[in-house]
Amino acid sequence: MRRAIYPGSFDPVTNGHLDVIERARKLFDEVVVALAHNDEKRPLFSLEERLALLRETAGKIDGVRITQFKGLLVEFARAEKAGAVIRGLRAVSDFEFEFQMALMNRKLDAAVETIFLMPKEDYTYLSSRIVKEIANLGGDVSSFVPTCVAKALNRKFTR
Ligand code: PNS
Repeated sequence: MRRAIYPGSFDPVTNGHLDVIERARKLFDEVVVALAHNDEKRPLFSLEERLALLRETAGKIDGVRITQFKGLLVEFARAEKAGAVIRGLRAVSDFEFEFQMALMNRKLDAAVETIFLMPKEDYTYLSSRIVKEIANLGGDVSSFVPTCVAKALNRKFTR
């Protein structure tokens, strides 16, 4: 069983994330989408809300499991018996942080390989942060996120 972890904050999950998951699924028998507990970031959606949106979207894809983890990613990957960590790479601006994280994870556990996947070109400009900003300012995000996420964003920002 070839298993990969796709970790992230998913605040909220976007079509770009789903595109990366579909691509990863072609390479691995199982993709474990792992929502990280990250106390430093102040997310818009609670852990439970983000998990529910992931289950409603990525969770519907065959061979994809949704879960959460605390602590080090490499330890979680080891516990899941996953040999790879998937990260999406959109543009050069992503590279520096991703490169640092991949090499640090390799230092922490040489058995865990990081694999970068490029999402569809249409999604290279897409990020959870930008989607939240557009939704907050009343813009239409329906082509960037699944319907349930667009609805959840509308509920958050309806004053
Ligand atoms: O979606 P994000 O916010 O870019 O995801 C970042 C994430 C969750 C993958 C990263 O912060 C992470 O791996 N956190 C777990 C803690 C950890 O292992 N930190 C050391 C990474 S070098």
